Amino acid sequence: MKSASGMNNVVMLVAAPLVIYAVLAIATGVIPGIELSRTPATPGVVPLSAQAARGREVYVGEGCSYCHTQQVRPLKEDLVFGRPSVAGDYVYDTPELLGSERNGPDLSDIGDRQPSEVWQYIHLYEPRAVVSESIMPSYRWLFRIKPHADPGDVVVPVPPPYSPPHGVVVATAKARDLVAYLKSLRQVPLRPAAGTSPAAAASPGVRAAPGGGGR
Ligand code: HEC
Repeated sequence: MKSASGMNNVVMLVAAPLVIYAVLAIATGVIPGIELSRTPATPGVVPLSAQAARGREVYVGEGCSYCHTQQVRPLKEDLVFGRPSVAGDYVYDTPELLGSERNGPDLSDIGDRQPSEVWQYIHLYEPRAVVSESIMPSYRWLFRIKPHADPGDVVVPVPPPYSPPHGVVVATAKARDLVAYLKSLRQVPLRPAAGTSPAAAASPGVRAAPGGGGR
């Protein structure tokens, strides 16, 4: 008798936490996950081009997200990076490259903020050539130094003292793909039908109608 009720206690001790854990996991993880996976794309968000998708692989491979996020928080100090991110921005971005370390600026909207390909190439070759105090590593292996440019080469006008003593700096296919990816990172303005989204209200791209009606 005694040992049977002792056994029941053990079963209860194991079963009760298991049930509680399962309920919590389903309520806080599984159900929100299913709901979020049904989020439609933010209108205007398009899938990456084939070249930009290859560039995304380079971005992952080079570890850019160890220093850069792609998630603008609804905070005043993040407004400089764009509007607060919403789930629909990531529909074509699996797995999302949200990042967690903000050693460098958020790149969610870098295609708008810095549309110059030439700037991006010089910056990747040698960040200090364009931002003197930069701590970003240089990615020179994405470039080649050739004695002369061949037809079709993308020549990068690296300024002295960072330019090589001889020859020209040419972007490799990886660098071209990566820059195509960076240019594709653009936030689309939010235009909710009801005009009730707090994220939209904070968006610098969306202005309330004069008179404060808001649409
Ligand atoms: C060790 C951290 C670190 C890594 C790794 C890193 N970055 Fe940066 N990045 C920075 C910092 C810091 C800045 C700000 C200074 C500057 O502009 O160089 C920056 C700036 C930038 C900017 C300009 C952002 C702006 O708002 O002007 C771009 C674009 C960029 N990085 C792309 C990349 C890419 C692509 C990679 C991977 C190939 C990469 N970064 C890897 C630290 C890093």
